[in-house]
Amino acid sequence: MITGKSLEYLASYTADIRKRTGRAPECYVHSFGCQQNVSDGEKLMGALIRAGFAPADKLDDAQIIIFNTCAVRENAEDKVFSVIGDLKHFKEQHPDVILGVCGCMAQEKSAAEKLMNTYRQVDLVFGTFAYGELYEMLAELITKRRRVMNIEEKYADIDEDFVQYRTNRFSAYVPIMYGCNNFCTYCIVPYVRGRERSRKPEAVEAEVRRLVGEGYREIFLLGQNVNSYSYGFPALLRRLDTIEGDFRIRFMSSHPKDATHELIDAILDCGKVCKHLHLALQSGCDRILKAMNRRYTAEDFMKIVDYARSRRPDFSFSTDIIVGFPGETYEEFCETKALIKRIKFDNIYSFVYSKRTGTKAAELPDDISDKQKGLWLRELLLENRETSTEWMKRFVGRTCRVLIDGKGKTEGSLTGKNDENIIVNLEGGKELIGEFADVRITDSMNWALKGEIVRK
Ligand code: SAM
Ligand code: SF4
Ligand code: F3S
Repeated sequence: MITGKSLEYLASYTADIRKRTGRAPECYVHSFGCQQNVSDGEKLMGALIRAGFAPADKLDDAQIIIFNTCAVRENAEDKVFSVIGDLKHFKEQHPDVILGVCGCMAQEKSAAEKLMNTYRQVDLVFGTFAYGELYEMLAELITKRRRVMNIEEKYADIDEDFVQYRTNRFSAYVPIMYGCNNFCTYCIVPYVRGRERSRKPEAVEAEVRRLVGEGYREIFLLGQNVNSYSYGFPALLRRLDTIEGDFRIRFMSSHPKDATHELIDAILDCGKVCKHLHLALQSGCDRILKAMNRRYTAEDFMKIVDYARSRRPDFSFSTDIIVGFPGETYEEFCETKALIKRIKFDNIYSFVYSKRTGTKAAELPDDISDKQKGLWLRELLLENRETSTEWMKRFVGRTCRVLIDGKGKTEGSLTGKNDENIIVNLEGGKELIGEFADVRITDSMNWALKGEIVRK
């Protein structure tokens, strides 16, 4: 629970507003970045609602607006500065509205100072270590009428008693660990999220049991590298798999350096665990992998793929790729393309390298032009299209279990995902959203499948 002595103060503050205006003041938290950040945003919303705020449908209605930011690539940060910049006028017209910026970018000293010094419309800047002090920060801001910055790196015990405000009613994020110890040379995450801390398996199990009891169909376990979960990740999967109910388990992310046979075995042995592994390759070239401090070789990565495919020939992998790491040559980039072709991924999330000040790679000469990086990225995606189109055909004629998660693009169509995390488009009524259906796959494209429901 995000609590503190100031909860009482905030509760009376919101009650007062309710009495005066006839309605509760509203709160709005917008999260950028990864699932972990979205999950943090749900906790902040939960904390604000506990203090008497009501969730706002849109930003303009809110009395308190918080942007929960991402710092992973430069364009993620640019976007936040631009959104905050656009709110200058809004804040002038609504001086009583509290505008906060938190998350990974706020945890970076230079970005936090820029927000405080240049963006006067921002009242509150707090980093990823300060969520537990939300009430205190707000109370200080309101009572003392002064802007607050809180970006100190400090480690409190993991809070197990939080309330999460979840907007998705059938898929739930469940963090199992926080932080990252890996220090890949291009990545800012270990600097803004701190060292790894794992939740106790009993706490994770209790939360999953509660969510399944509430009707959630998908439990999405989160961590920057679940393989270094302190209490053993394969064991956690096996433990959660014993929970009764109609649900499935996904997780993200898993670092190749310590993806083991035990992990693959647990995925394949546990009925509720999706048969899919997101394993970020980043590069297929050993020299670049070393420069990235990834601590595996292309061959090590292949070994885990080969083991999984020896047990299940079409085991589904997805991956992340960085194109244009400092000093990368075209030949080295071609090694990545060749490996991708060999492995056959169901999904590739590819990024152009972005220099992150403070990381080791930022000290290397970033000698590849943005144009060149962009061309390589296109080349990679184009070349992979053929491989993935062929690979996706394996589903045609099979029946997959699909969790239907929303309306499709055309009237009467729906969309969902199968166990392998691939989009499946189908026909059906919207009452099926949030339910599992057995779907016979009738057609495939390079990025999605088409099917018809055979059993609900
Ligand atoms: N912990 C996850 C893992 O290792 O699989 C990755 C989390 S990171 C937030 C998501 C992805 O962003 C990384 O896998 C990497 O491909 C990409 N990324 C991180 N830093 C980057 C940078 N400086 N430039 C471009 N892409 C980057
Ligand atoms: Fe970043 Fe590497 Fe940690 Fe992933 S494992 S968050 S890429 S440092
Ligand atoms: Fe996630 Fe971005 Fe932070 S990807 S951990 S929100 S830097």
